[in-house]
Amino acid sequence: MNDRDSTGDVNRARALLREATNVTVLTGAGVSAESGVPTYRGAGGGLWGGLRVEDWATPEGYARDRPRVWTWYSDRRVQLADVRPNAAHRALAELQRRLAARGGRATIVTQNIDALHQAAGAQDVLELHGSLLRIRCEQCMRREYVGCKPLEHGPTCPDCGAAMRPDVVWFGESLPMKVWHAAVDAAAACDVFITAGTSAVVYPAAGLLDVAKGRGARTIEVNLEATPASGAVDVSLLGRAGDVLPELLDGADP
Ligand code: OAD
Repeated sequence: MNDRDSTGDVNRARALLREATNVTVLTGAGVSAESGVPTYRGAGGGLWGGLRVEDWATPEGYARDRPRVWTWYSDRRVQLADVRPNAAHRALAELQRRLAARGGRATIVTQNIDALHQAAGAQDVLELHGSLLRIRCEQCMRREYVGCKPLEHGPTCPDCGAAMRPDVVWFGESLPMKVWHAAVDAAAACDVFITAGTSAVVYPAAGLLDVAKGRGARTIEVNLEATPASGAVDVSLLGRAGDVLPELLDGADP
């Protein structure tokens, strides 16, 4: 972030934010990486027992070996008890506060299931892929907040007796419709759209960038490396989300 070009890019991004009233931010696993939460893809992320996430985070993968997939989520849920939000989460919560203070709005749409945006003080986070902190009934959709508790495989629904499962979205499943529509509305209504710490390969979330662009929003990407979104955004900022996002706010004073 220190050479002349990247400084110029940061300044361009700050200028976009300065003029914005409505900002929508799409976050991915990279935003939580500096808190110690592993990413799904890219360096240091990805494989679990030799399988890619696409091979087991599916209804079929769960049906094949429920206890194993349950345990993966349960272990991560328990680990979250010791995980704290990082500077990227705090910067986005601060962006929400600053825009709200001047009559604007910053909507955080996340693919993450770790609730770290909320832990940093963000409001009304749109969780596209569910939450590690909840389980839900496979039949009647009753949801239960379980926090970071360890949970043995096999709880059943107190209402209908069917099996409970992690309240997360797997490949091949629909996103929660109300949340998805709210995310599309936020992308369509924003002046600036930021995509941060996501590999931009998982749809429909990755398509929110196109929704925003199609409605005339200016676009910023923050990532350690180039992604399929990099060529499509107005400003691509290479660096750690925990460095770049606070840096954007420092000079943008939105
Ligand atoms: P990925 O693991 O696919 O991508 C993480 C991205 O973050 C990569 O592009 C990294 O370069 C970048 N990155 C890593 N550390 C970073 C840092 N400190 N600062 C900035 N960028 C960093 O994660 P997602 O894009 O979130 O869905 O993955 C999308 C979905 O795929 C997940 O929600 C999950 C997964 O399968 C489901 O399970 C349905």
